[in-house]
Amino acid sequence: MRRIAVCPGSFDPITLGHLDIIKRASKLFDKVIVLISANAAKTTSFSFTERLSFIEKATSELALDNVVIDILDGLLADYVRNVGAIAIVKGLRAVSDFEYEFQMALANKKLYEGAETVFLTTSAENMYLSSSVVKQIASFGGDISHFVPGCVLEDIKNRLVKENRNEY
Ligand code: PNS
Repeated sequence: MRRIAVCPGSFDPITLGHLDIIKRASKLFDKVIVLISANAAKTTSFSFTERLSFIEKATSELALDNVVIDILDGLLADYVRNVGAIAIVKGLRAVSDFEYEFQMALANKKLYEGAETVFLTTSAENMYLSSSVVKQIASFGGDISHFVPGCVLEDIKNRLVKENRNEY
């Protein structure tokens, strides 16, 4: 039996923290589906196509043969059931993540009994890292080279710096 895991997230944009979790999940499961999903509570800066292309670049650079990328239009629990995945993999940074992640894990399990959530603890160097921190720093022209994969650094920077050029 092929053990499939789904790694869902907004990935707006992908960070080194996300990539670390994807890499580690790819060692634990036969196949990992990185699933770009809509989060109703967030407005995104990058389109699904942009986010997909960033993840594609970052994962193909690492030659992660068992990682594929998909876009979710619907409920995560339904997707997990449809592809026959045995786990939802998420990174847990700090206690502050826990309540939200715990709530989602329980809701997904209620929607589909087979939706087991597995949490990987974030590597120490990525504890503080999030897509919104990256966006804040980049939009004011700050250095995000330690936060995002090098192959997508320029794409992300160019888009976010432009976005923040206000008219006064
Ligand atoms: O990276 P994020 O924004 O924390 O990821 C949250 C995400 C996208 C995984 C979550 O919002 C999600 O699963 N969205 C898909 C729609 C869905 O199933 N929502 C109910 C989750 S309980």
